[in-house]
Amino acid sequence: MNISSEFIKDGISPLQRKKFGNEFQWGVSVSAYQIEGAHDKDGKGLSIWDVFTNKKGKVFNNQNGNIACDFYHRSSDDLQLIQQLSIPNFRFSISWPRILPQGTGQVNAMGIAYYDRLIDECLSLGIEPWVTLYHWDLPHALELKGGWTNRDIVSWFVDFVAICVQQYGDKVKNWMVLNEPMVFTGAGYFLGVHAPGRRGMSNFLPAAHHAVLAMAEGARTIRAICPQANIGTTFSCSHIEPYSNKEKDILAAKRVDALLNRLFIEPTLGLGYPTQDLPALRKIEKYILANDDKLMKFDFDFIGIQNYTREIVKHSYFTPYLRASIVKATKRKVPTTLMNWEVYPSSIYHILKKYDAYEGIKKIYITENGAAFTDYANDDGSVEDHHRKEFLQNYLKELLKAKEEGVKVEGYFIWTLKDNFEWAEGFHPRFGIIYVDFKTQQRTIKASGWWYKEFLEETNRME
Ligand code: NOJ
Repeated sequence: MNISSEFIKDGISPLQRKKFGNEFQWGVSVSAYQIEGAHDKDGKGLSIWDVFTNKKGKVFNNQNGNIACDFYHRSSDDLQLIQQLSIPNFRFSISWPRILPQGTGQVNAMGIAYYDRLIDECLSLGIEPWVTLYHWDLPHALELKGGWTNRDIVSWFVDFVAICVQQYGDKVKNWMVLNEPMVFTGAGYFLGVHAPGRRGMSNFLPAAHHAVLAMAEGARTIRAICPQANIGTTFSCSHIEPYSNKEKDILAAKRVDALLNRLFIEPTLGLGYPTQDLPALRKIEKYILANDDKLMKFDFDFIGIQNYTREIVKHSYFTPYLRASIVKATKRKVPTTLMNWEVYPSSIYHILKKYDAYEGIKKIYITENGAAFTDYANDDGSVEDHHRKEFLQNYLKELLKAKEEGVKVEGYFIWTLKDNFEWAEGFHPRFGIIYVDFKTQQRTIKASGWWYKEFLEETNRME
């Protein structure tokens, strides 16, 4: 049943693809560990997520990505689905330990061949590949040497980037260096809730600084090998508001904004770390060597923004370093997704305005936006996720508003193609526009997927 055609026929949706312009890039995003499975196949080495998920109690129901959506074996079928949905751009990541099982040194020819095939198949189906070089699956062998806390990671990473770009650079035009450095350093090295499960400022601060260096050095490596490439990197961002007009809440909101939204972009732009608004960050200086100020900068062709929600922040004496806490959406009794994230479409508008205002940002793509809900496959083969469809449309309306006001936003990628392994939350938050039955690996296009197809095809029909 094609619900979306009725939806548009009824005139409920004022959204039209053509309003975004012909140059606007539409796509869908995924990442290697969350979908590939085949965690020990064809010479792949262990990643920190393979190790973390095998420790008891780290992930919801002790689930892991050993099989996930079995994308490694089913990529051709899944690419056909992307084509069926008329999605022109596919953002995926390359698993570092599939290419370099020990993180450095010996290259795994079967890993190289896998992504070669994937890229070729994309191109033969008319789908443009957008490649992320680091989406959190660090080779375990490198974590044993300190992982992101070891400054050597910059050269380990650059070597990996060089291999990928030399290998695929003649076919892939769009590259993203890191995915959400705030999340993999914050959740992985400060809170310990993501792999590798390390905690505290003495892990977080060096990890953050080395990620900033790796981001710029990785980008320079791509530029040196492929001068024409479209080079970006992606950031997690949420619009932040103070809980009240009291000065202490306003300052607390500023600190959280500095941490969540500014820490990684500002050194890249040559602005240094936002230590003035977040004094707890000052100790990062300990890890900064002479000349790093220059090395941290890179003139990216685009910035990827990944936005899902907003945060309300209040002062808290009890939170070390930050002295601020997030007022949970569930407490505020506002609409939420299954992740307990507030549904707040204008967050994307505010964030776009905020990033657009930085000098030096040339182009912005929303490289992730989406929502997790509990979805069910009906007996007739439909998945009626109208809440997701509505979510996407409402965020897109806010994006369009920003664009019409002159914001340089030139693309939008839905997170995500199909239900997958949502890190510490395991498989229960379903973010996909395609439903996956994890017992049978059967895929079913959800109402949101049918809607996206109709929307993307609309321009053609109307011309
Ligand atoms: C950010 C991450 O890049 C992605 O891996 C994750 O699944 C989504 N957001 C949803 O949390």
